[in-house]
Amino acid sequence: MKVLVTYNSQSGKTKMIAEAIYSSLKEEADAVLNELGETKVTDLVDYDIVFIGSPCHSADIVKPVREFLEKIPNQSKFKLAGFITHSCYPPEKGGIYEEMFEKWAGKSRKSFEKIAAEKKLDFIGFFRCMGAATAPIENFIKTEVISDEKEFEEFLLESRKHPDEKDLSNAKAFAQKIIGELK
Ligand SMILES: Cc1cc2nc3c(=O)[nH]c(=O)nc-3n(C[C@H](O)[C@H](O)[C@H](O)COP(=O)(O)O)c2cc1C
Repeated sequence: MKVLVTYNSQSGKTKMIAEAIYSSLKEEADAVLNELGETKVTDLVDYDIVFIGSPCHSADIVKPVREFLEKIPNQSKFKLAGFITHSCYPPEKGGIYEEMFEKWAGKSRKSFEKIAAEKKLDFIGFFRCMGAATAPIENFIKTEVISDEKEFEEFLLESRKHPDEKDLSNAKAFAQKIIGELK
């Protein structure tokens, strides 16, 4: 089975997830890890599964990832899986954070699903986890999203840990589940 793991990553967090997915698959599949900028849409025909990763910007996947997805020919035969890292808390935190996730990262999965549906691609899975924000984004969160000082301090402590070991092992398990279902 030929698998491509390709990603856009501006500060390295999504790259860490891409590497975890790749490392989990490389023993049992003919796997390639590439930055999105090195990947041509025409290369995709060579693969059975393509994992595409994006940071979450403005609640959505980043422009280069969207543009890449939009160039994929309709009804391409490979199976598509998506992954993102986002700095907001995950919805599992519950309460107001569920809404906050929807507002600040909710479009990411929907974009993958929408483009895949429009192109009649087989979209077989999506993974997400927190990725530490850079200093300007921390600042933005402080002024626009979490204004309470104590809450913001807690957020910083948590955010700066990610992706952590658990995220990396979850990403590996995600990749294993996908490949396991297709074997
Ligand atoms: C310009 C910019 C916009 C961002 N917008 C969001 C956002 O809307 N929601 C969110 O949860 N995180 C947002 N983030 C945080 C990133 O998604 C997060 O830190 C991610 O892990 C970065 O991935 P990377 O290191 O692969 O670039 C933003 C980051 C940047 C630089």
